[in-house]
Amino acid sequence: MSRSERDLEQLLSEQLAYYRARAPEYIETAFPELGTETFDAARRELAEVVDRFAPRGDVLELACGPGTWTPQLLRHADTLTSVDGSPEMVRLAAAAVPPGSVRFVEADLFRWRPDRRYDVVFFGFWLSHVPLERFEAFWSLVAECLKPGGRVLFVDDAFRTPDELVEGERSSLIQRRLTDGRTYRAVKVPHTPKELEGRLTEMGWRIRVAASASGPFFWGAGTRAQYVRVPGYDPAMITKLDFVAIPSRDAKRARTFYVETLGLRPDEHAQAECWAGQTCLGIWEPERLGMPFAPQKNGHLALHVDDVDQARAELEAKGIEFAGETLDTGVCKMAFFTDPDGNDLMLHGRYAPYE
Ligand SMILES: C[S@@+](CC[C@H](N)C(=O)[O-])C[C@H]1O[C@@H](n2cnc3c(N)ncnc32)[C@H](O)[C@@H]1O
Repeated sequence: MSRSERDLEQLLSEQLAYYRARAPEYIETAFPELGTETFDAARRELAEVVDRFAPRGDVLELACGPGTWTPQLLRHADTLTSVDGSPEMVRLAAAAVPPGSVRFVEADLFRWRPDRRYDVVFFGFWLSHVPLERFEAFWSLVAECLKPGGRVLFVDDAFRTPDELVEGERSSLIQRRLTDGRTYRAVKVPHTPKELEGRLTEMGWRIRVAASASGPFFWGAGTRAQYVRVPGYDPAMITKLDFVAIPSRDAKRARTFYVETLGLRPDEHAQAECWAGQTCLGIWEPERLGMPFAPQKNGHLALHVDDVDQARAELEAKGIEFAGETLDTGVCKMAFFTDPDGNDLMLHGRYAPYE
């Protein structure tokens, strides 16, 4: 059952209230069910993962808690910024490192925006507390925090005790209890390494998620797929495509087509711009600038849809004529058409998994 935004906001506030109240007992009450031996082995294993990853340069730690990882990150980092929503946790973390060595920020991660970019973003035991409804937004935040080519490392677990599962196994809502008996609702998404890796791959990340040998833990390390290192490629110069130009003889007609017929998101500020997901289409009229008009040919913009056949049928019902049959390349489908200016477009959907 999907939660309303208001319920979700309340749940996230309660989760933060839980960690605020739990701060003094956080370390002693972590994973009592595992037993000291397993817990210590897992801690050692995860600490080795962090050392092998070597979080160098400018490092950002999200949801730092009482400083579980902060001193270790500091040993590798040139600068370290650690963010947490609980002032109680931030105080404990600050006490775990030399004064002034870490920039601490007290902020709600579901609202916070970075004021700079980092070489590494790290989060320990945080991702499982991000509800699936906010998963994509959280990863957009991670992307926003990273310098071009920056790296991500996270460690986490999917551990939920039977008495926490107040809504059953399938729900990510759990109830946690403090030693004084107070109970709080919280989120614990039981990610598995394979599912999580696949989800991130689909979102444009190249992150390997691996299970730990000891305990129910896992970690993920990687980067944005676009920054996977290619010899001779310098990610520092061109970092992304800002917009795709759409030449038109009638910008108003073109905008109506893209926004009303195709359903692209109109830009809030610019009349001549609209958005296909993260890509901005900038409509312009060459003739107004004294240039001859020519439509874009053979460079079809591949507009992503999940189901090409269904989307084609919907657009045909709106009067769009497609050029020929839908092409099935063996990994994806393409259905070709043009906008009112004759610019080449296609509906595109890949059905084969990326390898
Ligand atoms: C499971 S603890 C992880 C702490 C630490 N990283 C570790 O590995 O032990 C989750 C942390 O998230 C913080 N937190 C919870 N909700 C938050 C929010 N909305 N914004 C920022 N931090 C939040 C809590 O205060 C807590 O320190």
